[in-house]
Amino acid sequence: MDVKSKVGLYWDRRSKTYDRNVYKSQNAAEDFWKSILKTEIGTEQNLNILDVGTGTGFLALLFAELGHKVTGIDISKSMLEKSRFNAYKQKLAVNFMHGDAENLPFDDDSFDIVMNRYLLWTLPDPKTAVNEWSRVVKSGGKLILIDGRWHDPAIYMRLRRFIASIIVLITENRNPRMFSSYYATIKAQLPFFNGITPNDVVDLFTEVGLKKISVNNLEKLRAFETKNRPLPYKIANKPYLFLALGEK
Ligand SMILES: C[S@@+](CC[C@H](N)C(=O)[O-])C[C@H]1O[C@@H](n2cnc3c(N)ncnc32)[C@H](O)[C@@H]1O
Repeated sequence: MDVKSKVGLYWDRRSKTYDRNVYKSQNAAEDFWKSILKTEIGTEQNLNILDVGTGTGFLALLFAELGHKVTGIDISKSMLEKSRFNAYKQKLAVNFMHGDAENLPFDDDSFDIVMNRYLLWTLPDPKTAVNEWSRVVKSGGKLILIDGRWHDPAIYMRLRRFIASIIVLITENRNPRMFSSYYATIKAQLPFFNGITPNDVVDLFTEVGLKKISVNNLEKLRAFETKNRPLPYKIANKPYLFLALGEK
C-alpha cells in the first residue's frame, strides 16, 4: 500500500474520535482561533478561501462563520463526512471535497487565501505540496500554514507520550497505539514527521517564490493550549506551534 493510502486509512479510522475531547471548551477555542485568523487575514469579507487537509472542518467552518466563501479538501472521506455533519449542525455552507493536497483539482490563481493546519508533517512531498498551494493562490493572495513539532523523538517526550496513551485509553476509550501502528511503517517517508521548524517553512516558501514571508510564534496559542487541552494532550505534546505566512 502506498504512503498516501495508508495516511488516508489512518485518518478514516481516526475520524470517529478526532473531535472528541479536543478542548475543554469548544466555544473558547473557536473564539481564540477566530482572533488568530482575523489578525492574519484582516477584516475583509467574502474572501475565497481554501483549507487544505481540512479534517473535520475546524478552520473551514470558522472562516465560513467569519463570512467567507470556503472550500475544504481532504484525502480522508470519513473525515469529510464529519466535516459535512459539523457544517450541517452549525448551519454553515462550506464546499467540502475529496482530494490530494499535493495535487489539487483547482485552476491556477483560484483563491485569495490557502490555509492549512497540522497537515505538512504528514505529507510525503512537502515541497510539491507548497508549490501546489502557491499555484492556486491568486497573485497578491496569501498562503498560511500552521504546524509545529509533534513527535519529538527525545526519550523524555517518548515517555510522556506513553503515559498520555494510558490516560487516553482510560478516559477516551480509544486505542492510543492505533496512531503508531499506522505511521510506524510510513514515517520514514514523511520528511517532517518528527517536527517542522519555522526555518523549514521559510525555506519552502522562499523556494516557491512567495514574498513578504513572516512567522508568528503563536505564544498566546501555546498558553491557551496548555490551559485548555485535556491532560493527556498536555503530557504527550509540548508542541512548538507557529504560523507562517507568505504572499504570492
Ligand atoms: C492532523 S489532521 C488536521 C485536520 C485539520 N486541518 C485540523 O486542523 O483539525 C490532518 C488531516 O490531513 C489530512 N491529509 C493527510 N494527507 C493528506 C493529503 N495528501 N491530502 C489531503 N489531506 C490530507 C488527513 O486526512 C487529516 O484530515
